[in-house]
Amino acid sequence: MNARIGIVTISDRASTGVYEDLSGPAIRDTLQAYLSTPWEPVVRLIPDEQPIIEATLRALVDEAHCCLVLTTGGTGPSPRDVTPEATRAVCPRILDGFGERMRAVSLQYVPTAILSRQIAGLRGASLIVNLPGRPRAIRECLDAVFPAIPYCIELAG
Ligand code: MTE
Repeated sequence: MNARIGIVTISDRASTGVYEDLSGPAIRDTLQAYLSTPWEPVVRLIPDEQPIIEATLRALVDEAHCCLVLTTGGTGPSPRDVTPEATRAVCPRILDGFGERMRAVSLQYVPTAILSRQIAGLRGASLIVNLPGRPRAIRECLDAVFPAIPYCIELAG
């Protein structure tokens, strides 16, 4: 079976069609450039609602058996940004290094990266990583942490 990777866009506006989701496709394209073996994306587009985010993450790991789930959006300080809370709620183990590294790298590009609350964690043997909302930020963050991801999944399994 091909590796399944969850790609979750978390955005009130993209999920209601106010604007097009460019972030999910940016994750997909970036992953495609990294991965040499066939893989299957499992794509979701949902609003910034914590119960919906938690249910989506649980389903992608427990039912769709994704070994990796990447989220985009909802990591800032506004009241509707609840992606880190939802991730924490479904991940018994948090891997602090991912958030630390992504913020450090992003701060080289924009001072507002300090506002990002993105985290990563393990749910069983599956890794969930929060990425920021903008396509360019997604690429910058994934470039920084991707080398550690296959090793992490291997160790966790
Ligand atoms: N990281 C990078 N590399 N580039 C960016 O433009 N934007 C920041 C931050 N991280 C940004 C970034 C901003 S303005 C915010 S509010 C947070 O990510 C969270 O964004 P999100 O709510 O879209 O996830």
